[in-house]
Amino acid sequence: MSVMRIGIAGLGTVGSAVFEILADHPQFKIIAVSARDQEKDRGLNLEGVRWVNDPVQLALSPDVDVVIELMGGDGNPALSLIREALQRRKPVITANKALLAYHGFDLACLAEDNQVPLMYEAAVAGGIPIIKIIREGLAANGISAVYGIMNGTCNYILTEMGRTGENFETVLTNAQKLGYAESDPSLDIDGGDTGHKLSILSGLAFGCVPDFKSLFVEGIRSISIEDIRLADELGYHIKLIGQARKNASGAILQFVSPSLLPKSSPIANTHGVLNGILIEGSYVGPSFVAGRGAGGFATASAVVADLIDLQHGKNILPFGMPARLLSSTQKASLEDWDGAFYIRLVVKDRPGVIAEISPILRDSNISIESFIQRGRSMDQPVSMIMMTHETKGHNILKAITQIKELDCIMDDPLVMPVLKI
Ligand code: NAP
Ligand code: HSE
Repeated sequence: MSVMRIGIAGLGTVGSAVFEILADHPQFKIIAVSARDQEKDRGLNLEGVRWVNDPVQLALSPDVDVVIELMGGDGNPALSLIREALQRRKPVITANKALLAYHGFDLACLAEDNQVPLMYEAAVAGGIPIIKIIREGLAANGISAVYGIMNGTCNYILTEMGRTGENFETVLTNAQKLGYAESDPSLDIDGGDTGHKLSILSGLAFGCVPDFKSLFVEGIRSISIEDIRLADELGYHIKLIGQARKNASGAILQFVSPSLLPKSSPIANTHGVLNGILIEGSYVGPSFVAGRGAGGFATASAVVADLIDLQHGKNILPFGMPARLLSSTQKASLEDWDGAFYIRLVVKDRPGVIAEISPILRDSNISIESFIQRGRSMDQPVSMIMMTHETKGHNILKAITQIKELDCIMDDPLVMPVLKI
């Protein structure tokens, strides 16, 4: 087997781990690398490896057979590097979900036009081979839904806040030290990273153009330790869930939202940095996969798997079908979500509060399944937790708009869907 000559752009958490793994795979030779700071000590032996300041040079170098893009970012230089490589018919491997969420369609067209592989197993769910599972393993199935935990940082934060009682910032700092977070961690926390991944999975599962702008996206900033503990008392875990499903009229709706899941659900039992994704296939039924969703070596494992597939001559269409046949998705909102909801209101602790809220719920056709209020301190803020029965998202939004105006309400209400899976 001839040696494949590799160029790597990006030598951070993932790039360094790929570099180390490739030391055990002599069929791949790293020819050239690029990153921002040549002086940085990365703990890697870069002797004999050419350094290029401009990553796009990797695509132009005649001695580089394959370009691996591990810089991140939804624009240049990652975009121009990948474009240049595909135009020169050089296979590309990337872990960059942000780039694919915005430019996946154009890049897939370019790869197809040039008959060259564009591979991205590491872009979704770290080390779990979720791309291969949906695109190849479940190819015989019509898929009705894909949902689950797609961000290791958020799952780690929610798990650790509940387990240790440590505050959000402390736990986020730990996630950054462990190499889980994006270089801009607001992408993790505000749900953007889950949205990027979900738009890629929707593309594969439903044959639609990845379109980040059509997603409803809500992150985990407003989740408190109190929410995690009260949900636990009620029999649920809180997880940041990405969910894409076909509605009754066949439209694809995509949501990213912190959600409550019953403790019996496999997704609810996916903790720490793990990701857990459930796919509902027409013949196979529900299939659940879990594994390390972030971190250098877990992600590098998927990058190197793509390289090995490439060496075996694999060249599958990036979305499993011609990109120009991908359909469009519909813009989703919480109004489109029918089911049970968790509502946290911060109210002034005084007589008559429930009497003010109840008529609004009644007139919006919302029925309460359970209710918790703790603490007693006259006129001080206190949390009131309600779990509703199944209702329409539209009813919830209507009620919350009115409840917000009551003068017993002391903070923005928190509303989360409850998934009965
Ligand atoms: P990282 O640790 O921040 O590393 C980024 C690397 O890219 C660094 O080596 C940086 O150079 C280099 N770089 C950034 N901008 C550059 C530019 N303009 N020109 C040249 N080099 C540039 O990021 P990471 O965590 O390894 O993530 C890399 C990619 O993998 C991202 O797309 C990310 O979303 C994706 N991903 C990450 C994980 C994870 O768990 N970390 C999991 C799945 C996918 P310097 O080192 O000199 O600063
Ligand atoms: N920041 C991402 C996460 C990396 O925490 O899941 C893996 O894509």
